[in-house]
Formats: sequence, structure tokens, C-alpha cells
Amino acid sequence: MKQSPTVLLTGGAGFIGSHIAAELALAGHEPVILDNLCNSKIGVLDRLSSIIGRSLRFIQGDIRDVELVKHTLATHHVQSVIHLAGLKAVGDSVKEPLAYYDNNVVGTLRLLEAMHACNVRSIVFSSSATVYGNPDRLPLRESHPLSTTNPYGQTKLVIEEMLRDLHRSDSRWHICMLRYFNPIGAHASGMIGEDPNGVPTNLMPFVQRVAAGELKELPVWGNDYDTPDGTGVRDYIHVVDLATGHMRAMEKLESMGCEAINLGTGLGSSVLDVVRTFERVNGVRIPLAIKARRPGDVPACYADPSIAFERLGWKTQRTLDDMCRDAWTWQQFSATLGG
Ligand code: UD1
Repeated sequence: MKQSPTVLLTGGAGFIGSHIAAELALAGHEPVILDNLCNSKIGVLDRLSSIIGRSLRFIQGDIRDVELVKHTLATHHVQSVIHLAGLKAVGDSVKEPLAYYDNNVVGTLRLLEAMHACNVRSIVFSSSATVYGNPDRLPLRESHPLSTTNPYGQTKLVIEEMLRDLHRSDSRWHICMLRYFNPIGAHASGMIGEDPNGVPTNLMPFVQRVAAGELKELPVWGNDYDTPDGTGVRDYIHVVDLATGHMRAMEKLESMGCEAINLGTGLGSSVLDVVRTFERVNGVRIPLAIKARRPGDVPACYADPSIAFERLGWKTQRTLDDMCRDAWTWQQFSATLGG
């Protein structure tokens, strides 16, 4: 029997990782999940199994553990790596920069060392549109100058530079750096989705909790931006579209050198667009409280996704209606899970 290609998925138990695991498995790939569960829960694995119809290989561990990663790469005959493991809360990164450099930068360095030792040189890396800093011009193209405003963004930039240097030193590496815009939504089954600890800082998890009555009102961080309705504009992308983008990138790795590719829809939606859509699609009310601008926020940020289409043959298929509907289905399901 022909063996399916095995891919190591670091951070595979998290919000984005679990959706990638589902898409990979449903398409006949063999994901092996490595996750230290610092921001995810073991219970996601059973729900993933229900979606896929079989169980997935899972290793609880840390990417900084070189021996563990080497052992995993060798015993599972891994051919490529999709690397998502890392910390991602901007506010925490300002308070605890060393934890961010350790997990994200040192973690990636250790992972690359282990890959090199095992002759695995194909990697898709989870980067972010945060590397564009305060955009000079929109839509954002991959050639836009790179900068950042916080330690989290800095770790993404440093890792991108490290990967570019690595490829310059050894052209056997195949590297794709995917710059995500704003992933929201959930699997259409409603069985996996975003489950942040504590009070959410990102827009959609906050909207979901207000809709569920767990939080009283949504703070709208500024309505005096130079945007059509004054609120911040972002490029929201359905997490399942994001997942299929990773799969395409992985499938194309062998024909790539070291490339950065935007994953976005190309459409900008304001905070009020998201709220109104969520209310209309789900028949719920989201009370609002207009507040001052949040420090560090940019007025607008959206992708030019044309390189993703040219290089990966990929574009998004799901609308903001889909994102809001699926996020709400997941919110209601997750309320039944407990702990
Ligand atoms: C944020 C991070 C970004 C990171 C991304 C990861 C900041 C400044 N940026 O992006 O670096 O890559 O999360 O997911 O933290 N909003 C409200 N009320 C809320 C929450 C958000 O009005 O309660 C608004 C924001 O002002 C913004 C939009 O909703 O206009 C989206 O915010 P958010 O979901 O936090 O994402 P980003 O700020 O784009």
C-alpha cells in the first residue's frame, strides 16, 4: 500500500492548527501533531477524530526539545513541517518579551536544527500580516516594507529573516512563509474553533461571548478612523480557507525556494460590518460601547492576495456570512463542553 506523506504539524492542537489537521487528514495526508498544550486543550483531539472519522497521531511536547523533535521526525518518517507553535498575544508580548523570544524565536531555531539533523528541509511557517507594521499603502503586497510595533511582531520578523538566511546558505531548503490576515470562523461542524483563555482581546471571540450573554457589550476601539464608518478595517479570513492555503503551500513546497505569501481575502470589513453581519446571520443582538482607540491599532489592513493565487492556485471561498455563522455554531457547541 502507498504510504501517505507525513507532515509534522507543530501547534496542531490550537485554533488554526486543528483546522489544518482536519483539512490535511480529509485530503489523505498524515498529520502528526506536536503541541505542548500551553494554549490548547487535549479534548480537541477527540473532536478532530469525530470530524475525520479516525484518530490522529499526537505527541505532547515542546519544539524546543531537540531530541524529542528529532525522534518524532525520524520515527514518523516526516517529509515536511507546518510550523505554527508559538505565542501570539500582542499585549503579553510587551509584558513578557523574553517568553516570546524563547518560545517563538528559540523554538523555531531548535526546530530547524532538528529538521536539519534529520534531513527534513521543507517547512511552511505561520507568519502574520503584523510584519507589515503600519501600512504605507493598501492593499498590502508581499513587497511592502517590513516593520513592527511590538515584541510579538518582532519575533515573526526575526524568524522570517532567519528562514531567508537559512535558504541563502543552503538551497536544499524549501520554505513558505504564510502571512495571515485576521483568521476567524470555525469548522462548519461547529466542533472545533477558537477558545481563548480569559477575556478575549480579538474581535470575533469577543463578539461571540457578547452574543452568548457572557459579556455585556462589545467595546468598539475607536469610531473616528479615516475609514468608511470610522471603525477599524481588517481582512477577515475563514479559518478553513486559511487551512486549505497551508495545504496548498505544503503540496507546492518542492517547487519553492524561500517565499512569503499573503493569506487573505483582499476585502476589508469594519468592526461595524462584522457586528451587523453577525447579528443578521445569527439573529442575535450585540450591544456596543464606543471607546477610545486601542494603542497600536492601525486604521485599515487588507491583503493583495494575488500571489497566493499565482503561486498556490488558492483563493478564499468563504464569505463573512460564513465566518459569522460558523463562529456562532462553535460558540454554542463549546458552551456544552465545560472545562
Ligand atoms: C491583533 C494583533 C495582531 C495579531 C492578531 C492575531 C494588535 C494591535 N494586533 O490584530 O498583531 O497578529 O491580533 O490575531 O493587538 N476591536 C474592537 N473591539 C474589540 C476587539 C477588537 O473594536 O473588543 C477592533 C480592533 O480595534 C480592530 C479590529 O477589531 O480594528 C480587529 O481587532 P483584533 O481582532 O484584535 O485583530 P488585530 O488588531 O487586527
